Amino acid sequence: MSRLKVFVTRQLPASLDRLRQIADVEIWPERLPPSYELLLEKVRKVDGLLCLLTDRLDCQAISQASALKVISQMAVGFDNIDIAAATARNIPVGNTPGVLTEATADFTWALLMAAARRVVEGDRFTRAGEWRTWEPDLLLGPNVAGATLGIVGLGRIGQAVARRAKGFDMRVVYVSKHRKPDTERSLDVEFATLAEVLQESDFVTLHTPLTEDTIRLISEPQFQLMKPSAILINTARGPIVDPNALYRALSTGQIAAAALDVTDPEPIDRQSPLLHLQNLIVTPHIGSASRQTREKMALMAIANLVAGLTGERLPNCVNPEVYR
Ligand code: GLV
Repeated sequence: MSRLKVFVTRQLPASLDRLRQIADVEIWPERLPPSYELLLEKVRKVDGLLCLLTDRLDCQAISQASALKVISQMAVGFDNIDIAAATARNIPVGNTPGVLTEATADFTWALLMAAARRVVEGDRFTRAGEWRTWEPDLLLGPNVAGATLGIVGLGRIGQAVARRAKGFDMRVVYVSKHRKPDTERSLDVEFATLAEVLQESDFVTLHTPLTEDTIRLISEPQFQLMKPSAILINTARGPIVDPNALYRALSTGQIAAAALDVTDPEPIDRQSPLLHLQNLIVTPHIGSASRQTREKMALMAIANLVAGLTGERLPNCVNPEVYR
């Protein structure tokens, strides 16, 4: 019997020995992702695919995957994969939830604090030789402690962000697809409409998956509802925010500042006018990038892949319908 074949679309921060015991493993060695054409070519031949959020697995790619038994993504989000197409072909898709919750919540707070207290501007100012003396009104920002935090999407990461907010004595309001009365009680958070969250919050942080319902969820009308002192944080997915509306909101003072770990497109275009704004922080999608977390994500993705290749149920499967 010929050996199983696996394509791994990038070098991973974990050992692949376990995988090598059961399959021939090809790892894409480059820093940038394989092209779509190359991915198609691989997908046609392999039994298992371990991919990242930068790999587009659309209906066309999946429909050509004649031998594919499993798609394992090293990420919690999976908007790059056509799940319906995979399900239609009975291909289980795995992801890596849970292990990145705390790291991503930490990073959300890093951005929130950095935007509020102007950490990046302060660093630029210092390096430019502009720090001459202590000044009473230098780089002022709003209070974080005691402010109102608005959370859009109270899933695992949204809840971890809310828990941290309690240490800052914040009032936390949230909107989510489903109301969560138990969590409201345990975390002391208040349910509200999106409009109320936007109107009442000093900080708005996004934690929804990217779906048809959340694409461009934050656009011109939503910015109009926000306070001129508000700060927007996005560590979820770039397309949830309309970048043109964000540019207008930041450049006209409709909101005070924003911090994005995710953009649309990714990477952000170097010519984007957003990059000329001092009141915007942009980081390169590193929300989950603690060493321990990335290793756990890789191990979890490998475990999903091995399970799929050996005909077992994936420990973390986003389309469990395939097992019915
Ligand atoms: C990162 O964005 C992830 O979805 O894990």
